[in-house]
Amino acid sequence: MIEKQFILKSYSKTLENGSFTWSSPSNIALVKYWGKKEHQIPENPSVSFTLNTCKTITKLSFSKKENDNEFSFEVYLDDEKKDDFKPKIETFFKRIESYLPFLKAYHFKIETSNTFPHSSGIASSASGMSALAMCLMSIERSLSEVEVTDNYVTQKASFLARLGSGSACRSLEGDLVVWGKHDKIDGSSDLFGVKYPFEVHQNFKNYNDTILLVDKGEKQVSSTVGHNLMHNHPFAKERFKQAHKNLSDLINVFKIGDLKAFISIVESEALTLHAMMMTSMPYFILMKPNTLEIINKIWTFRKETHSNVCFTLDAGANVHVLYPENETELVNEFIKSELVAYCQNGHYICDRIGFGAKQLTMEN
Ligand code: DP6
Repeated sequence: MIEKQFILKSYSKTLENGSFTWSSPSNIALVKYWGKKEHQIPENPSVSFTLNTCKTITKLSFSKKENDNEFSFEVYLDDEKKDDFKPKIETFFKRIESYLPFLKAYHFKIETSNTFPHSSGIASSASGMSALAMCLMSIERSLSEVEVTDNYVTQKASFLARLGSGSACRSLEGDLVVWGKHDKIDGSSDLFGVKYPFEVHQNFKNYNDTILLVDKGEKQVSSTVGHNLMHNHPFAKERFKQAHKNLSDLINVFKIGDLKAFISIVESEALTLHAMMMTSMPYFILMKPNTLEIINKIWTFRKETHSNVCFTLDAGANVHVLYPENETELVNEFIKSELVAYCQNGHYICDRIGFGAKQLTMEN
């Protein structure tokens, strides 16, 4: 499957060497992507808040090499050589090579670091793949003689990032991004993320996401394996239909600022995601006892205080605690007094809605 719109006709400029540095954030899905077809095409549309604090910073240095018959690159995380990251990047390069024909012409040094601890159980694939995609797009832009618009660069970076890791395509922009064709969202696409195009009520501006680190260990089941278990899953068809409906319903929720309806959709999405895991064959559970303790505490607190705090989960045990800006103080107090006890070593990360990838430096 080749998408012609993402192939530039020719590169007329030449570039011997140089480097680009980009930072790109993680994102948290409100309607979840879980299940994909060939070529990283999602089974259903998803929508996410782009985060602000949790991000990856990647410096991509490149130098022209003698021959162009294979990929040549080295990867560093926090200045330490990481050969175990290479297979994932090699697969990524193979998938995107037809869209970036210069890939084999250069030797690359990829130097990356995350603002969150590597062992936090927070997936770095969304921020990492989107940062790398932006660095590669900076090279393409420099090589291209024809005018390349910012819009094209962001869209193609999202398209490329998706081929590295599906959810990565939602990290290029903010503050709300939709990925996957939805009939009520013009311009939505299975191929790349787009900025949520409709009105968003003030209630959702600067929304907070405090990530409670319940379990920092390696996941027992990777997302990729989990996605594949949605093939022949007994509830898959209904689940994909439900995601379309939840996204439709969110359009009005975002418009009128209906926090109660937001909470119902977001928490139901999180629990449905984990229900899909528990009903796969083989089945698996990523939540830990403390995940459930936290969820119950949040429900009790909400009942007692009428707060609008809620939770979501990604493919792991950590809990994302979501709450509006005007409840920052109230919920922070609650987190400190009642939830921190359930976090591994008391660790949590305060994040909030952000605005996507940013270029840091450029040298060539
Ligand atoms: C549960 O994007 O990590 O976080 O495409 O195989 O790399 P791959 O999967 P990935 O899946 C993320 C799943 C999720 C939900 C979401 O972010 O929408």
